[in-house]
Amino acid sequence: MNKCAIAIDGPSGAGKSTISKLLAKELGFTYVDTGAIYRTVGVYVKRMGVNPKDAAQVEKLLPQINIEIAHRDGVQRLFLNGDDVTDEIREHVISAYASDVSAIPAVRAFLLDMQREFARRDNVIMDGRDIGTVVLPDAKIKIFLTATDEDRAHRRYDELILKGQSVSFETVLSDMRARDKQDSSRSVAPLAAAEDAVTVDTTGNTLEESVKLLKNIIKERMNG
Ligand code: DC
Repeated sequence: MNKCAIAIDGPSGAGKSTISKLLAKELGFTYVDTGAIYRTVGVYVKRMGVNPKDAAQVEKLLPQINIEIAHRDGVQRLFLNGDDVTDEIREHVISAYASDVSAIPAVRAFLLDMQREFARRDNVIMDGRDIGTVVLPDAKIKIFLTATDEDRAHRRYDELILKGQSVSFETVLSDMRARDKQDSSRSVAPLAAAEDAVTVDTTGNTLEESVKLLKNIIKERMNG
């Protein structure tokens, strides 16, 4: 039987991962957070002391990188060459590394098949920036999740503070804007809504409201 794929794209902090995780649990689908995979490459590049904007140097590192993803109790754990980096990839400094390496075509090519393999094996809800446009262009349902800059920065800031990281709201907001600009303007697979995606603005919504909204869209499209 063909597998069913749901693609959720959008800028950082729009609620993609929190909402996708909950939806995946309800639908019994596997949740794949593709940003975590780019973050894992970012961790390796940082560990090796390489400038993440230096495409030639980053490309040289790729053959040394082995990424494994395990799903335990609905939580996605990331392993970099056998080392569990699930917490490290969430550090604020890694966000910039991930955004920089994700603009390098060789990095995107390196990770493409790994992402598609999930959708071949399981029913998936996959979130990222180019899932509906590049990774899974045939996904049955495509959603582009967005919200105002301030709303998204507030969510990211709350998450970081909850994890005990010390950052100011202003830093989170300006870093996020810079990252979104870079993710949207890069030449390969930029952040963009697929033509056949439904755009959902989550500004001011509670998590429950957004989940309900998406559930209705998914239900409609699955039956359609
Ligand atoms: O979703 P996130 O913030 O964890 O993603 C980290 C970075 O990875 C983000 O700045 C852009 C990049 N990314 C990407 O280019 N394509 C994806 N499918 C997912 C993430």
